[in-house]
Amino acid sequence: MSERAVVRDYFNSLGFDRWRRIYGDGEVNRVQRDIREGHARTLETVLGWLGEVKGVSICDAGCGVGSLSIPLAERGATVFASDISEKMVGEAIARRDAQLGQSENPTFGVADLESISGSYDTVICLDVMIHYPEADALAMLTHLTRLAQKRLIFSFAPKTLLLVLLKKIGELFPGPSKTTRAYQHRETALVAHLASLGWQVQQRATIKSRFYFAWTLDLRRA
Ligand SMILES: C[S@@+](CC[C@H](N)C(=O)[O-])C[C@H]1O[C@@H](n2cnc3c(N)ncnc32)[C@H](O)[C@@H]1O
Repeated sequence: MSERAVVRDYFNSLGFDRWRRIYGDGEVNRVQRDIREGHARTLETVLGWLGEVKGVSICDAGCGVGSLSIPLAERGATVFASDISEKMVGEAIARRDAQLGQSENPTFGVADLESISGSYDTVICLDVMIHYPEADALAMLTHLTRLAQKRLIFSFAPKTLLLVLLKKIGELFPGPSKTTRAYQHRETALVAHLASLGWQVQQRATIKSRFYFAWTLDLRRA
């Protein structure tokens, strides 16, 4: 089975239950709470970077249950959001309808991010690259840059010596339900690839807690 099919099946089954809980506000275990809080910090950072979004068109690629798309639509952005998992998208639609009252914004769709088309002021892709090896991640980023008019924001798990060691001894990405592989990426390789496509890093955030590690980059066309 291809890497994508494994990831899709995971987020339509075991992964759906796990991540819907992590991205919710109900009871979770200690590890999941730590990941929830780390992810919330990434969301806060990105919302802070974006600032005023009224009238801005945004594509949220790999949107999960809509944790970013829904607040962006609430702030006045026009949001197209999609995810490879139909279960995650179903949950995102239910949350949108509960929070925004059967709104058409965000518009949600089920799609592999490399099949998204269109043109958006800003393209965002949070905590998706961790599921793919470097060659796939680079291809995905290439596609996302084609969709973005002005700005690309994405996060990844960094490949630092400490994190490689922690992963090896199993402290990071723990638990039996973590059935997909977690890939860490070299920031230099991602940034060099994007620079070759004409994109420059404007700002970066490094969010880490015991079980959540995400570096987020905000890039503009050079
Ligand atoms: C850890 S969740 C992050 C969700 C969301 N971006 C957030 O930060 O709240 C990863 C999501 O990426 C989605 N995903 C994985 N591979 C994808 C792909 N190739 N295309 C689109 N979505 C993908 C998964 O289904 C899952 O919903």
